[in-house]
Amino acid sequence: MSLELCHMALRQTLDLIALTDGALQDFTRRKFTTDELFREVLGKVLGGNGRRGPAGILIASQGPDSACCDGQVFHLRHGQLLETSEVICIEAGSSYASSLVMVEGGSQVVALNWKDICPSIEEFQTFFHPKVVAAMAEPILNFVSCRISGKPSGVIEAFNYPGRATEYDADVLRSAAVVMGSLVTVSSGMRETEHAFNYTIEALARACEAAEEDTGRHIVRVGRYAGALAANMGFNVEFIQDMSISAQMHDVGKIRIPSEILLKKGMLTPREMALIRQHPAFGSEIIGDSPRLRVAREIAMSHHENWDGTGYPKRLKGEMIPISGRIVKVADVYDALRSRRSYKRALTHEKSLDVFRNGDERINPAGHFDPAVLAAFFRIEHMFDMIYDSSVLKIGLNRSRTGKSKS
Ligand SMILES: [Fe+2]
Ligand SMILES: [Fe+2]
Repeated sequence: MSLELCHMALRQTLDLIALTDGALQDFTRRKFTTDELFREVLGKVLGGNGRRGPAGILIASQGPDSACCDGQVFHLRHGQLLETSEVICIEAGSSYASSLVMVEGGSQVVALNWKDICPSIEEFQTFFHPKVVAAMAEPILNFVSCRISGKPSGVIEAFNYPGRATEYDADVLRSAAVVMGSLVTVSSGMRETEHAFNYTIEALARACEAAEEDTGRHIVRVGRYAGALAANMGFNVEFIQDMSISAQMHDVGKIRIPSEILLKKGMLTPREMALIRQHPAFGSEIIGDSPRLRVAREIAMSHHENWDGTGYPKRLKGEMIPISGRIVKVADVYDALRSRRSYKRALTHEKSLDVFRNGDERINPAGHFDPAVLAAFFRIEHMFDMIYDSSVLKIGLNRSRTGKSKS
């Protein structure tokens, strides 16, 4: 029997190693949340599907208040992982099972069976938080408990293994805890890097905008419209997020155009116009060739191309223009119509819609826009109006606050 248990434990541990390996290889594409990670690991550890495992598992992680762990109990039913409790706040010292391992010192693991330490099953229940006992919906007869090291740290407790909780069960759970701890730490590190990365992009885009007359939030809005269009067109979450961030860099090349030209009130000379038309190439150069900035580079280079091949800088036509550029084209034109420029007044949402339907002296909708992006625009035009209004409203509020503090 113990040899069979040993094989089962080994198989489960190998499963966990394969999961870690796959997750680490996938990390650049998949942005794990702690929840997703926990679920994948739990699915491999819980009993069922021919595996030996516990009937229920409590996962608790340390909240900002280190005196308390927030946890939930999970079960496996018909191959599906179910949360069978609300979030339970386990205060330090309120549960013997948690306290056993919530001491500093790494991956301590404890396996206990009621018969070995208690005169009755009823007394054994007092080792656990009452809400955990209630969530198990059956008396707890044995458990394995293990600390999850990492940021944040936590505890994993597995209840009711068939027969007894053994040292092999403890080994499998300890492997699960190590996997969880390391993946959560890597995942939170990646999130921090991603935030820093996004912040840098926004800061760079803002720096370029300062050179222009629109001190509003043009770049942020263009990012939001572009994300909304990509979502409506059915693109995946990664692409939608990438669009929302990358679209903000569409005019980054303007940093190389003198502000006298960008802010000039009268007509531009042909030389000035030619220089402005170089901003896509400047932008692409500034962004460089990092694979992580591929979409941003595409957008910078192609957001002034027209569907009919009359745009610049490369006069690309139709699907030769990257989809990211075709999306930002619509977003950028809408926001330009709504905004005041030295050479034009701001249009209302309705007037802008009219330009998207019937065109004006500068815009030819059928010739300039990808029909699929244009159709998506008309499906969600109300969102464009909301995005524009919310950003204008925010600026208005900030200004009035500033005004108050000065007076
Ligand atoms: Fe541009
Ligand atoms: Fe723009």
